[in-house]
Amino acid sequence: MEIIFRQSFDIISSTYTYLIASRKGGEALIIDPVLEKTDQYIKLLEQLDLRLVKVIDTHIHADHISGIAELRDRTKCVTLMGEHAPADVVSMHVKDNEKVKIEGIELTALYTPGHTDDSYSFLMDDRVFTGDTLLIKGTGRTDFQNGNPYDQYNSLFDRLLKLNDDTLIYPAHDYKGDMVSTIGEEKKFNPRLQVTSAQEYAQIMNNLNLDNPKIMDIAIPTNIAQGMSTEQQKRLNGLNAIEVKELIKNKDTRLIDLREEIEILKEPSINGSVNIVYNKLPNYLENKKEELLNLNLIFYCAVGERSALAVQMSQSYNLSNVAHLIGGIKKWNT
Ligand SMILES: [Fe+2]
Repeated sequence: MEIIFRQSFDIISSTYTYLIASRKGGEALIIDPVLEKTDQYIKLLEQLDLRLVKVIDTHIHADHISGIAELRDRTKCVTLMGEHAPADVVSMHVKDNEKVKIEGIELTALYTPGHTDDSYSFLMDDRVFTGDTLLIKGTGRTDFQNGNPYDQYNSLFDRLLKLNDDTLIYPAHDYKGDMVSTIGEEKKFNPRLQVTSAQEYAQIMNNLNLDNPKIMDIAIPTNIAQGMSTEQQKRLNGLNAIEVKELIKNKDTRLIDLREEIEILKEPSINGSVNIVYNKLPNYLENKKEELLNLNLIFYCAVGERSALAVQMSQSYNLSNVAHLIGGIKKWNT
């Protein structure tokens, strides 16, 4: 299948960002965006007639400010990270081996800790996005953000290097100008992988003596705070669980769960709600507009981010009796 695949580079932080879609005019996904490049991504999305529906960070970055929140605010896309990322950073968390889906594209999440304890890689057919776990002829440092060389050794040798030798490697960074490699090439030529034990690997990693990234003290806290705050959620017609419980007693209230199937399997929907996956909400609002005009709508999702965006979206369909659950199903269940 011919897919749309773009690799862009941020010269300041040496970060690679990837844009993926299955067809012109369809849904798109972005991995590891850099805040300062947001205009460039938006322009490319427009030029290729793509609708951004998901944006992923492979881990909490220390060397640049992520573009996930800015892209979420400008395109109303879903933000996604692995389950070990701090709880309120993104709208959707995935576990090891779970699928990330957009139209015509499926990625498998691989938990590959070591560079940080929240590092994930994402496998897509013939290629793998390795974040800072496996770099081209290198590996990501393990000396901060709960990094651990032993975990990284396992992530490398037990997970990534077990992929087919032809699998293409697309990392989050490169400092020498290389753009892509393969598992086979890295096995043979990556100097960090020419070790015979985890201890030997840890010895190399513990003696790198690297300076901290220049903007680390700003980047980490900023990236951890990328999620939509409770105050922002409240301003967008946010209600607490008690208020929602009161409103759903009214038969003219429709409670809508915006989450995806894999999320509902982990945490079942609230009784009496209908499930409209967030990505399909524009179609639903368009097609059911007349019926919805006479109802009170209450949206909810995992942490309250998609539901807040859904309130904004509904307003552009002139629906006025619309609210959402602050903090998502997490707050309902506590
Ligand atoms: Fe990193």
